[in-house]
Amino acid sequence: MRTIVLPVNPFEPEPDVIARAAAALRAGDLVAFPTETVYGLGANALDEEAVGRIFVAKGRPSNNPLIVHVAEAADAAQVAAAWPETATRLAQRFWPGPLTLVLPRRDVVPDAVTAGGSTVAVRVPAHAVARALIRTSKAPVAAPSANRSMQLSPTRAEHVLSGLDGRIALLLDGGPTAGGLESTVLDLTTTPPRLLRPGLVAPAEIEALIGLIGRQVSTPASSGAPLPSPGMLSRHYAPRAGLECVSEDGGVRARELCRSGLRVGWLTFTEPVASHEPGLETMVMPAEPRAYAAQLYAVLHGLDGVDVDRIVVTLPPDTDAWLAVRDRLQRASAAGSA
Ligand code: TXA
Ligand code: MG
Repeated sequence: MRTIVLPVNPFEPEPDVIARAAAALRAGDLVAFPTETVYGLGANALDEEAVGRIFVAKGRPSNNPLIVHVAEAADAAQVAAAWPETATRLAQRFWPGPLTLVLPRRDVVPDAVTAGGSTVAVRVPAHAVARALIRTSKAPVAAPSANRSMQLSPTRAEHVLSGLDGRIALLLDGGPTAGGLESTVLDLTTTPPRLLRPGLVAPAEIEALIGLIGRQVSTPASSGAPLPSPGMLSRHYAPRAGLECVSEDGGVRARELCRSGLRVGWLTFTEPVASHEPGLETMVMPAEPRAYAAQLYAVLHGLDGVDVDRIVVTLPPDTDAWLAVRDRLQRASAAGSA
């Protein structure tokens, strides 16, 4: 299969480009498209065969359910069987935007989407291309991140191609995505609601609207405990190079690895004062969580692109504002050692 790449204006998508992509979705093909978080790999969520193609293209295990994207909050009723009052409040405040709600499913949703479970995850993305595509296709769109399973999520069209070229019909290239990390996933089928994946909407923002939520997110792979959500495997979101997190300034560790002959990428917060070490790629990251999140995957994709052997990351502080960034870094490092 040849993957067709169509450039699209991220703010005012060209109607002919959107019409072509929507026709592909209706025909059961896969279309990668930008959202405000990362690029998604879309299929018509009500077409079981088309959804099956997502799992094949990504090499994704079939027990990991997909997020359904709809154009308006009212359209969530196409896939969700219940709509609690908390959902109304959250949707009013955060949709369109990077919050995914897990709700009881309707029977029309194929088992492939929900991994056979009784719930469905749904969100209204904020990106103009994503919304125009969903609206024009006249169907809810199931879309995981547009990467091969276990690899880094894509924040640019070239990241999508590096994993999926030749495996999908169409890619809409709307330039870099603004958010850079995946949406927050919140389960509204439990009491209290439970955070399944931290993301660009912070827990405190959610709690300000609906009261306390359960926050126990990380389940170490080794614990053997049942996973709250199949997608919350520790091994996830990983660059090719092994990644290690250090809580102090990582320069000492990075230089030590360099001296043992490895090429090392180092994510830090301050310009290093010591002299340049051959084989060391230093990336000075923003000290503000949103700016850091926006850049993180692109920086890791970049380090994979120059073939470093190891990545050392100076961990940001253990505060709510950094929750999503720390979560992704820790998962990436779990993959390195697994
Ligand atoms: O920002 C995002 O959420 C991006 C864009 C494309 O929307 N999508 C994304 O999808 O990150 P994916 O498939 O890479 O991650 C979806 C997460 C997984 O952890 C999955 O297990 C969880 O959501 N999930 C999906 N449906 C679920 C359900 N019914 N119950 C619990 N967790 C669910
Ligand atoms: Mg993903």
